[in-house]
Amino acid sequence: MATQEETFKKLVAHCKEYGFVFPSSDIYDGLGAVYDYGQNGVELKNNIKKYWWDSMTLLHENIVGIDAAIFMHPTVWKASGHVDAFNDPLIDNRDSKKRYRADVLIEDQIAKIDEKIEKELAKARKRFGENFDEELYKQTNERVKEHVEHRDTLHERYSKAMNDNDLAELKQIILDEEIVCPISGTRNWTDVRQFNLMFQTEMGSTADGAMKIYLRPETAQGIFVNFLNVQKTGRMKIPFGIAQIGKAFRNEIVARQFVFRMREFEQMEMQFFVRPGEELKWFEHWKQFRLRWHKALGLGDEKYRFHDHEKLAHYANAATDIEFEMPFGFKEVEGIHSRTNFDLSQHAKYSGKKMEYFDPELNQSYTPYVIETSIGVDRMFLSVMCSAYKEETLEGGDTRVVLNLPPVLAPVKACVMPLVKKDGLPEKAREIQEMLKFDFHTNYDEKDSIGKRYRRQDAIGTPFCITVDHDTMTDNSVTVRYRDTMQQERVKIDDLHALIQKAVDPKVLYRKIVGK
Ligand code: GAP
Repeated sequence: MATQEETFKKLVAHCKEYGFVFPSSDIYDGLGAVYDYGQNGVELKNNIKKYWWDSMTLLHENIVGIDAAIFMHPTVWKASGHVDAFNDPLIDNRDSKKRYRADVLIEDQIAKIDEKIEKELAKARKRFGENFDEELYKQTNERVKEHVEHRDTLHERYSKAMNDNDLAELKQIILDEEIVCPISGTRNWTDVRQFNLMFQTEMGSTADGAMKIYLRPETAQGIFVNFLNVQKTGRMKIPFGIAQIGKAFRNEIVARQFVFRMREFEQMEMQFFVRPGEELKWFEHWKQFRLRWHKALGLGDEKYRFHDHEKLAHYANAATDIEFEMPFGFKEVEGIHSRTNFDLSQHAKYSGKKMEYFDPELNQSYTPYVIETSIGVDRMFLSVMCSAYKEETLEGGDTRVVLNLPPVLAPVKACVMPLVKKDGLPEKAREIQEMLKFDFHTNYDEKDSIGKRYRRQDAIGTPFCITVDHDTMTDNSVTVRYRDTMQQERVKIDDLHALIQKAVDPKVLYRKIVGK
């Protein structure tokens, strides 16, 4: 059986082969951690975005959307803290001249120890069979005990160094752990330095005195600076939310795992403005709402978990991640943060504008508190693809690759196919496609055997294949073949629209989310 890593590699290759994701500037051998979405990827991504957008703005009359510019006044990033504190700790190897994230080197070291522990446990499991008591073994086996102790001490030391922002200690850990550069194999390390993740550029010509500006590293600040505009023009009453989908840019040093960590990516963020003192109630509300949004897609409830933050940023009073089980472990897909009134207060301080709300019920003004839900479109895309990708062995030994995508997200909903390229079947198939195309994204395919055409649609996750045959010309029925079960049934042409609509209707998901 293929390992998770092998399957992930195959998924990446599949994404390219079937027009989901291409490396950016592919003909020039790509650009690190930047990707382009192809003809099928963009449809899937747009469907994810629509599912999120509508779940915010359709389901809540007190949530409205905006689309702020990527360029913002540079003081925004001073106020938000990104200029001074949006950093990664970096270290260089003098021999290979390669640069690494010090925290990642240490985390990799911890993962290596975890692997050693797991190897020992796997051996013991095999040896002792059903009677194996894992906890007892961890406490009594000398070798395992040693590894666990090493891991825990290292983890504690590393967490403290990160929390204290102690760069000298990070370097010392790397030296003490005898971590070597994977390229040169040496321990000839420089000191650890902070590296700001924001991309910079200049606006205006140099003769005019160009202004240093940044590509936004998050979309959230576009919402905060528009808080007053939206509240006043929309006559919004607290509690209310502002949603936004847009590109964000981070100069990630260690970019890996395909679209999981990119330098240009997309976020879907919502800031929910509440009365001070009510934020923890709303934090809990949004935690549960967002988890229901994920689970309604049916990717598997067991694939999600919350990871509550123990160490909070200085401005937050609660934070959690929604993690999804990727082939490389449980990973953050979404963050939910109770950000107090930090951002609005900072913008008030730096802009000199009052960022307050007059609450008519309380007859008082205050700076609202904020609950933020922030999800990466690309990570969501990846979690959907990872759970959908299946390699199946069929009866008779044949194999197929199928994407079991939730039909509401599938890039193509139906493919219409004439059984043969003659006797008026192509014309009839085109007629059916014309009938469906205003409501659903459809494909038409008349090339190769019907089996090959089915496989092509399985590979892009099309839920329905509709075959027009000679009987269609007399009985006005077609054969519908279902992607997941591969079962086929005769359906009247007049019933096709309703059949597809029922399967791809997002209303079913929205009802699950709101519990109706
Ligand atoms: N406004 C809050 C914020 O930006 P974050 O945890 O830094 O918080 C939110 O980012 C989400 O954006 C993450 O949960 C992740 O899904 C996505 N994200 C962050 N960095 C990313 C990257 N380099 N590539 C892809 N997605 C990223």
